[in-house]
Amino acid sequence: MTGSITLPGDKSISHRYAMIGALAEGDTSIANFSTGADCRSTVECVRALGIEVAGAATELVIHGKGLDGLRAPVCDLDAGNSGSTIRMLSGILAGQPFSSRILGDESLSRRPMKRVMTPLGQMGAHIEARDGQFPPLRIEGRTLRAIDYTLPVPSSQVKTCVLFAGLYASGATTVTEPVRCRDHTEIALREFGAEIAVESRRITIAGRPRLRGRQLVVPSDLSSAAFFLVAALLVPGSRLGISGVGLNPTRSALLDFLAGMGARIRVPKLESQAGELVGDLEVEYSELRGGTIDGPLTAALIDEIPALAVLGAATREGLTVRGAGELRIKETDRIRMVVDNLRRMGVEAEELPDGMAIPGRQKFRAAALDSSGDHRIAMAFAVAALAADGESEIAGADAASVSFPEFWDTLASVTQPRPRE
Ligand code: S3P
Repeated sequence: MTGSITLPGDKSISHRYAMIGALAEGDTSIANFSTGADCRSTVECVRALGIEVAGAATELVIHGKGLDGLRAPVCDLDAGNSGSTIRMLSGILAGQPFSSRILGDESLSRRPMKRVMTPLGQMGAHIEARDGQFPPLRIEGRTLRAIDYTLPVPSSQVKTCVLFAGLYASGATTVTEPVRCRDHTEIALREFGAEIAVESRRITIAGRPRLRGRQLVVPSDLSSAAFFLVAALLVPGSRLGISGVGLNPTRSALLDFLAGMGARIRVPKLESQAGELVGDLEVEYSELRGGTIDGPLTAALIDEIPALAVLGAATREGLTVRGAGELRIKETDRIRMVVDNLRRMGVEAEELPDGMAIPGRQKFRAAALDSSGDHRIAMAFAVAALAADGESEIAGADAASVSFPEFWDTLASVTQPRPRE
């Protein structure tokens, strides 16, 4: 595969800019907003909370009304497939002078919410959930108390939820994370004018800040770029350029990990935009050693593991993933889904309770694959299919649109169709 591509805006950053923009005073204009369905869900929730959002798909203007400007929704808030929307927005809803109900699709309705209910409960919110832990959530907003909370699992969504609730508490709310997770919330809140102190893994936010509208550009999504980086590293002769990608150090462990295995990746341009690092990437097909993802690295690569697992099978020594129990409670059980689809392709893969072990030097056989409606599984196995010996079919391929609706077109633009055998 050869060529130059640009990718849609980062999903994590888009969610945060939309939510914080709604709580800021005045207009926030956001360019290159994520085109994914997940971020649409956030925008629709923000609208349902009485905030006007103008503009077309990727260029939005949020007419923020300040911390106290939200209004009670007249119907349920729908987070769709988006864990980020329901978990992060819960922190905001907990501090409102009204009650709301937030729900999601079938996959989201199976995902655990105790991780946000516990700290929000400690802050004084009252939340009811199906079976005490699943969506829908009924959130009764209250006057919140500041807390000092240590996250039991590394989760940027939960960190964000508590920091957002902390906006409504009087005094300083502190979150300590077990390992450093993506810090887009801290960066964005500071950009909007909040007082945030970060000391190693302890983040403290002062309550009731005055947030002001901003003009922002969302960098392109490195987790979407990951599929193209892996594809280029997998298909001999590839050379690909990807411009304007978010390279925040809490996300860019991906590049270090790939480079450590021998990947030829260059960053010819790097700059800072609204506190986020943004750069251009160039990648070339490379023979890779293989490696292990474990400890803090697992949290840093959590969304990229499906794609890296595919790549691992083609490396010399294979790939082992440990400490990734969180993968079992993403949109699907991603450990099971990766191992299952690899096996369908004739690739040996061992399922571990908290990860997987994939021997190297393997070939991909064309197969009937299944995303089970999980966007990252659909895209990871599209990449595996590129390296296969014939035509593969992926059931539920349209799931890609959850984070990256243009995925199939972008892939087609850099791959040459092979003649049918
Ligand atoms: C995200 C954090 C991660 C990640 C998700 C987006 C975020 O989830 O998997 O795709 O934007 O904060 P966790 O916080 O649950 O690890």
